[in-house]
Amino acid sequence: MGQTIHKVIFVLLTIYGCHCHEGHDHGTIAAEVLYEWLEVDYTWPNEMTRHKAIDERIFIPANNAIYGIRLLKNKSFVTTPRLKEGVPSTLNFIVQVASATSVAGYDILLRPYPSWEMQKVGDCNALQLVQNIEIDPRQGYMYVIDIGHTFKNSNTGVKCPAKLIIYDIVNDNEVHRHIFPEEVVRKDNNYLSDLVLDYANGKASFLYITDTLDLKLVVYDIERDSSYFFHHMESMAPVMQYSNVTIAQEVVRVITGINGIAISPNFTHVYYSAVAGIHVYQIPTSVLRDSKGSVRFGDAVRQIGSKPSQGEGMIISKTGNMYFSALSENAIYKWDFINDSITYGSEGNIMMDSVSLVISNEFMQWVDSLALDDTGYLWFTSSRFQRFFNPYYGQVYMESIYAVWRAFVFDKSYNDFRYIPPKSKVVKYYANDVSNYTGNIFLVILVYLLSLSR
Ligand SMILES: *[C@@H]1O[C@H](CO)[C@@H](O)[C@H](O)[C@H]1NC(C)=O
Ligand SMILES: *[C@@H]1O[C@H](CO)[C@@H](O)[C@H](O)[C@H]1NC(C)=O
Ligand SMILES: *[C@@H]1O[C@H](CO)[C@@H](O)[C@H](O)[C@H]1NC(C)=O
Ligand SMILES: *[C@@H]1O[C@H](CO)[C@@H](O)[C@H](O)[C@H]1NC(C)=O
Repeated sequence: MGQTIHKVIFVLLTIYGCHCHEGHDHGTIAAEVLYEWLEVDYTWPNEMTRHKAIDERIFIPANNAIYGIRLLKNKSFVTTPRLKEGVPSTLNFIVQVASATSVAGYDILLRPYPSWEMQKVGDCNALQLVQNIEIDPRQGYMYVIDIGHTFKNSNTGVKCPAKLIIYDIVNDNEVHRHIFPEEVVRKDNNYLSDLVLDYANGKASFLYITDTLDLKLVVYDIERDSSYFFHHMESMAPVMQYSNVTIAQEVVRVITGINGIAISPNFTHVYYSAVAGIHVYQIPTSVLRDSKGSVRFGDAVRQIGSKPSQGEGMIISKTGNMYFSALSENAIYKWDFINDSITYGSEGNIMMDSVSLVISNEFMQWVDSLALDDTGYLWFTSSRFQRFFNPYYGQVYMESIYAVWRAFVFDKSYNDFRYIPPKSKVVKYYANDVSNYTGNIFLVILVYLLSLSR
């Protein structure tokens, strides 16, 4: 009975009320909303197909939530994880389409990537549930992790093995796919949520993926086309004490573990954190790159500090700043990693002391995924997930729920290998020519327990 998603998503909601107003910036840097949606929509082949999808409940607009974000050239890729039924596509990029009926003269829509055919629910060759992606700007490759099942087919019993698909997004073709063996990623009990690339000798060589449900750090060795995992309860499990996330006075219960993951620009250490938790852990990449496990994970992992509140995504810039979300504060914080590596002498001894607030805005609720482009901007998505899992959802909400934000932080992604001076030009409402591509990161999972289904 594929209750996986049910186990994963187990949200307890206590609603006291809602302050749903356009927010004010309280951080040191202002963020702008590039795109926002009350409900997201797709580039359907035609209006008839769309109506048919709605009639057949293949498309239930309110159930489509924007989650992960990555950029390459003028394309902004976003994921729409199938956390509820009625999500017709799980991987997309944002397009502007002329519209006679819209006040602006155009609509901002999601175009399924790489195609509609690759979005078929129940087809194990297609994408089932993608929460996050990573892009290697050097090769123009996108790494897509698919957990293999969805909210809907977890009820009907159709489950596919989890897989990784690598796309060449410059030429739009599939380069490779890796089906995770059952002994590495369990079909019945995985939720691959976030990923980061490791570049040994300047080349994308390992992918580190968090399994927030089965509490694993999964490694994919790109050259050998093989996968293995590490499990460490103490650092990867959810911490009950931190299972209540309070956002805009609503309490959401999260029970998932290891999630956000980032890598330092020297590719010597990986950092991660659980959703239900505030502690940040560090593990040397030398341990992760060794499939034989010569060094015990537990002997090498270090707790280096904590975040002001629970969060999802985290990313480290080329210059060594870690950006991460603090859900309860509707904020993004920065850890000045270089400053602390001076204090502590080396990255291996570093502690997370120099943490400061960067962006905060009460309209920025539930920041999921963070990305850095090559022009100095930090991009992120917010999706008000506390509302998504709220039973009254849809009845009270009259303003945008999903948003893509951008803030100029003068930082580039950990895996940007070119130097392009930051542009001062601010392009409102369109990603074109803003970013050549982007960075990393992560995310989450929620949980909701709906006694409905079953
Ligand atoms: C990106 O630029 C190319 C070439 O200028 C254009 O054909 C394409 O439509 C653009 N894509 C988006 C998403 O704007
Ligand atoms: C979480 O919230 C629930 C309901 O609001 C409460 O009963 C529980 O004690 C809280 N748990 C913690 C660890 O604060
Ligand atoms: C990365 O390595 C370079 C050269 O070894 C060193 O100068 C720099 O301080 C390192 N950066 C970090 C963040 O450790
Ligand atoms: C950098 O470290 C010094 C000494 O530990 C500390 O006083 C200072 O506040 C730190 N700077 C930042 C930006 O956190």
